[in-house]
Amino acid sequence: MAVPLQHAMKPTPSAEDIARQRFVSGLRTFVLNDLAADMRRAYDTRVVPSFRQAHGREPENGAEVHEAMRPDPAFKAYSSLRVSAQKMVWDSVTPVVQRDQARLAAIADEASQGRVEIHADFKMPRNVSAIDVHFMPGSYSGAGPHDDVTPGAVYDQGLAVFSMGLMGKNLDDIGVSMSRYVSRRFPEFRPLRILDLGCTVGHNTLPWKQTYPDAEVIGTDVAPGGLKYGAARAALQGVDVTFRQMNAEQLAFENDSFDLVFTSMFLHELSLKTIGKVFAEIRRVLKPGGLMLHMELPPNTQMGPFEGFYLDWDCYYNVEPFYKAFRDQEPRALCEKAGFEAINYFQFVVPSVGSYGSAAVDVAIAAETHEVNKETTGRLAEGIQWFGFGAWKTQTS
Ligand SMILES: C[S@@+](CC[C@H](N)C(=O)[O-])C[C@H]1O[C@@H](n2cnc3c(N)ncnc32)[C@H](O)[C@@H]1O
Repeated sequence: MAVPLQHAMKPTPSAEDIARQRFVSGLRTFVLNDLAADMRRAYDTRVVPSFRQAHGREPENGAEVHEAMRPDPAFKAYSSLRVSAQKMVWDSVTPVVQRDQARLAAIADEASQGRVEIHADFKMPRNVSAIDVHFMPGSYSGAGPHDDVTPGAVYDQGLAVFSMGLMGKNLDDIGVSMSRYVSRRFPEFRPLRILDLGCTVGHNTLPWKQTYPDAEVIGTDVAPGGLKYGAARAALQGVDVTFRQMNAEQLAFENDSFDLVFTSMFLHELSLKTIGKVFAEIRRVLKPGGLMLHMELPPNTQMGPFEGFYLDWDCYYNVEPFYKAFRDQEPRALCEKAGFEAINYFQFVVPSVGSYGSAAVDVAIAAETHEVNKETTGRLAEGIQWFGFGAWKTQTS
């Protein structure tokens, strides 16, 4: 079920809009639970037996599962309905935002003042400009003037429909859960300067300011409309965060200037070459003793062949071209390649605070959960857990 956003920057939907959005969220829930479960049953009862007959063994990785699943009717039903539901997410919010465009622009002009820096001549990277990422019309940057907040409003409202109420009232569950984890696991770590890269509308940036009120918190992204919308969104929620348009491959910040650099759901939208450049930049701007922290999709090495196939589906059918290449990496190896020392690496799984409450984070810390549950990932009825990894910059480097 789509949860109405609770902040004052949101567009105003009519009763019909709300009904349409609820229908789309409900359709996604049906696809991701019921049709996903059907697909798993088809795998166990039809696909594995015929694969075994042909090859004398079971599929060994996600790519083999994908090939074997493709002709199966359960896969076709799941895939076609999931693609349709994805397109319907954007169809259910775009007209609402367009109708409200003048009002949203006026609010954003005023509320974002002094809180956002964007540039008319900014060069958009091709991973954003060349494709409509996850079928979002116009991608993150949109087709309008650079300071048009429409793409930000469409993303915010679209994510509310897409996430079916599982990411919190203002879509901040990842930021809330991750910042809670860091503050509880490392109580002596008190960051005073925090950077969020690829923040879109800053929905997961704000919890860092709420967790560490004394810190200066900056969100950056390449897409200007989202940043301006996000700056107004933050101001209207009374959270003091600033936003700057910047390519994460080339950060306009001094060496050794941040205590914490965070990303969420960002790396899987970058090529491996870009990830290398971004990690090098993070390491450069981190202070010695500072923390690089990523919330991301779990790697294929942490899951069985079916679960790997299930998560990599987006790479083939949801305009996420870098998804699988990223998930095929070991996060530890990416950090080490960027110069972070092996001893300073850690990874973890944190339960969603929205689903399980903040006490569940302490339980997860005590249990030292380092890998996702191989058997359940992706099927939402099993609950939500976020995978994270990070590395400390050595004190002396
Ligand atoms: C999936 S969104 C991340 C959303 C957000 N961080 C969250 O927690 O949900 C990916 C974001 O990365 C941005 N992006 C893509 N390439 C970038 C780059 N090279 N530098 C900075 N931002 C980039 C996109 O514009 C988009 O807003």
